[in-house]
Amino acid sequence: RMMKEITGINIMEKQLAERLGIQQVILVSGDADKNPAVKKELGNETARLMESLLGGNSIIAVTGGSTMASVSEVLTASLSTADWLFVPARGGIGAVMSNQANTICSKMAERTNAGYRTLYVPDQVSTEMYQSMIKEPAINEVLQQIRCANMVLHGIGDAMTMAERRESDISDREKLKNGKAVGEAFGYYFNESGEVVHKVQTIGLQLEDLSTIKHVIAVAGGYSKAKAIASYMKQAPRTTILITDEGAAHQLLDK
Ligand code: BG6
Repeated sequence: RMMKEITGINIMEKQLAERLGIQQVILVSGDADKNPAVKKELGNETARLMESLLGGNSIIAVTGGSTMASVSEVLTASLSTADWLFVPARGGIGAVMSNQANTICSKMAERTNAGYRTLYVPDQVSTEMYQSMIKEPAINEVLQQIRCANMVLHGIGDAMTMAERRESDISDREKLKNGKAVGEAFGYYFNESGEVVHKVQTIGLQLEDLSTIKHVIAVAGGYSKAKAIASYMKQAPRTTILITDEGAAHQLLDK
């Protein structure tokens, strides 16, 4: 019975990678929307992948969110992790401290005996602010490190959920509604065709930076994120590896 289940999952992983047009999909069983333990499993798979893909001397850029927070809780130290450096891909967002990229980076570093950097800026800034902030040496240094990352670990969110978390104003929400946004990643909002319908001016990693990063790992699970995953993957680098769960996969494959 076990073997059958494993094979079934393997087939789904392949089908889904093909459907989304990306390098690889790693599936865990269950649905993160229904069972919080599934997020831990997504974390375990992420940890395994990091171990197998990264050597020493690695820079890992990390976004925020509850999924990344779960990943941070299951990382452990090994010999190679000592030379890892975690950098936040983003500034601060929303009010929940435990879900901030900065907090998650320090936690990941602590658990793996690695180093980390902090980006002391709000995630959403005005254009004027942005232009002057990126010239600040302490901020600029971290931005350079983000661009030199060999791996990025990121979440994908449902568009409206993310707009709420960001406390986006009415006009931004209207824009998302009119543009039929369904997914969000890195501050970009996508419609079902994968077009960017809105982007918040953020400090940190931009969509175009992804093309120079060797390992791009997206971690997102749950039935409710299926549309968001599909929309973002239309823009994602083809080298992306998606770690997701059956809840999202069934919905994505219309099973
Ligand atoms: C964020 C990422 O912090 O996590 C977003 O920057 C992503 O791009 C979000 O959409 C997902 O959050 P969660 O809590 O659903 O893992």
